[in-house]
Amino acid sequence: MIRSVILGSGSALPRQAVSNAELTARVDTSDEWIVERTGIRNRYIAAEDETTVSLATDAAHRALEAAGIGADTIDLIVLATATPDQTFPASATQVQHRLGVTRGAAFDVAAVCSGFLYALATADSFLRTGMATRALVVGAETFSRILDWEDRTTCVLFGDGAGALVLGAQDVVEDGPGILATRLHADGAHNQLLYVDGGVSTTGTVGKLRMKGREVFRHAVVNLAEVLGEVLDDAGVAVDEIDWVVPHQANARILDATARKLGLPADKVIVTVDRHANTSAASVPLAYDTAVRDGRIKPGDLVMLEAMGGGFTWGASLLRA
Ligand code: UT7
Repeated sequence: MIRSVILGSGSALPRQAVSNAELTARVDTSDEWIVERTGIRNRYIAAEDETTVSLATDAAHRALEAAGIGADTIDLIVLATATPDQTFPASATQVQHRLGVTRGAAFDVAAVCSGFLYALATADSFLRTGMATRALVVGAETFSRILDWEDRTTCVLFGDGAGALVLGAQDVVEDGPGILATRLHADGAHNQLLYVDGGVSTTGTVGKLRMKGREVFRHAVVNLAEVLGEVLDDAGVAVDEIDWVVPHQANARILDATARKLGLPADKVIVTVDRHANTSAASVPLAYDTAVRDGRIKPGDLVMLEAMGGGFTWGASLLRA
């Protein structure tokens, strides 16, 4: 029996940090409103020369370095993004080229803010079935390019960034590291609560992000609590055995509400939304890498990843670091 084990993590942020105070020059908002309603204090915004591919490649380099392996051992790259550099080819193929990888498969996965969970589950399936042996799973976004900078209800919420994990196929060891259980869900009925109002085959434009935030919030808390329960059941793990939860970083109040619903102490939840805002598919690996590098997530820890986003799509994955 094979399991997908995390060999290393990495992340990357654009050079420019933008505070809430700086946004008050663009839209009618305030630091107080943003902090109170979302927990966000800062976000990073990509310059022209910083793209989804460049951020993804930087994060991938750091993950490979942390894993202590060469890019030439990678035979699968799955990149989660809703903001690719081009409509095609897949941004994953550009990351592959920049890393100097010339073998294996590389493709993008689109599930918006849940994209990293979808990409991780895809790579995990490839490794467990022997389709690949070493995978690079990346979440990378430049949401600043699809924000309506005149819409205060959305433009203050998002930021740019990337995170990556290197996975290796290893024989299962009892109580050893690896991905233990994953569940993914989608429900296209809620498409109009969070979407982009453009597209290649409809308007022929890129479009801007539109969201009915309050309704998304309500669905997020219910769906996340449910999928977390499913994954715990699948793995036969009790909630108090979890060392860390690494949630999608959309809103500090969603993180609090989900933790409360599950009976999880708040100090087990990794929170980076204050520093990075909502980076969509990048937020889970970015938060994971932050917590590995600051010494919170240690080898052997039981870690739950979870996310919910446009579609709706949502999912969770339990792993031992
Ligand atoms: O990543 C994918 C998943 N996305 C999410 O999970 C997002 C989920 N939703 C949320 O995080 C929250 O719903 C928001 C942060 C988007 C909004 O917070 P809220 O507490 O639900 O506020 P609201 O939308 O009900 O708006 C309350 C008030 C409104 O004014 P009125 O109608 O009460 O007079 C808004 O116009 O706040 C106003 N408002 C703002 N005021 C200052 C909305 N945006 C702003 C702003 N600055 N930036």
